[in-house]
Amino acid sequence: MLIGVGLGPGDPGLLTLQAVDILQRANKVFVPGRLAQELVEPYSQPYMLEFPMTKDQAVLQSHWEKNADMVAGPARDGLVAFGLIGDPNFFSTFTHLRRIIQQRHPDISISTIPGISSITAFASRADIMMDTSFEVSDGSPLTDRIILKARRPREIINSLRQKGFEDFILAQRLFSDTEEIIKDQEKMPDKGDYFSLILARKRRE
Ligand SMILES: C[S@@+](CC[C@H](N)C(=O)[O-])C[C@H]1O[C@@H](n2cnc3c(N)ncnc32)[C@H](O)[C@@H]1O
Repeated sequence: MLIGVGLGPGDPGLLTLQAVDILQRANKVFVPGRLAQELVEPYSQPYMLEFPMTKDQAVLQSHWEKNADMVAGPARDGLVAFGLIGDPNFFSTFTHLRRIIQQRHPDISISTIPGISSITAFASRADIMMDTSFEVSDGSPLTDRIILKARRPREIINSLRQKGFEDFILAQRLFSDTEEIIKDQEKMPDKGDYFSLILARKRRE
């Protein structure tokens, strides 16, 4: 089993309790760089993988495949963690690595635990408050939107459809005993909870 573990934005005090627990229990911990290595070291002796900075696609592909195989080996027999800066599902090395492992080793079960992302953590350091809608970009096409306080899911989804969004996920009361994650469009309720959000996604090319 492989778990992508978010290590937070760089402060050793900003790892979650779950991150520490997984790092301590894992048989092996991999990291993609020195900052992640330093954050993991109080809890485990990590192995650093090399991700070369080159535009040569053949070199890149062979490194990614080699790294995927190195992680998949021990993950087949026990608990393996891959620790990375911020959150493992936001603009992360783990997303690409995971894709290659799934192609080459479809038997490995893979999950993630969230970390504090630079996208939210920076506001505290810069002492600014975010309370209007904003865009996060790495230069790639803008495809996704997150709607908070999704009290009227069907209405919201119908309106976003007119704007070209095609896929929707409704998440309610996340991490509680009554958590609901609805991906089936037919099952979207008319009324939502206050603790709800919708991810709306345009199809990617
Ligand atoms: C590959 S992305 C990784 C994002 C990470 N998964 C996250 O959730 O924050 C790397 C980019 O995240 C941003 N970033 C990550 N950690 C940061 C930090 N401590 N301070 C400022 N920006 C940071 C920078 O824009 C950096 O180029």
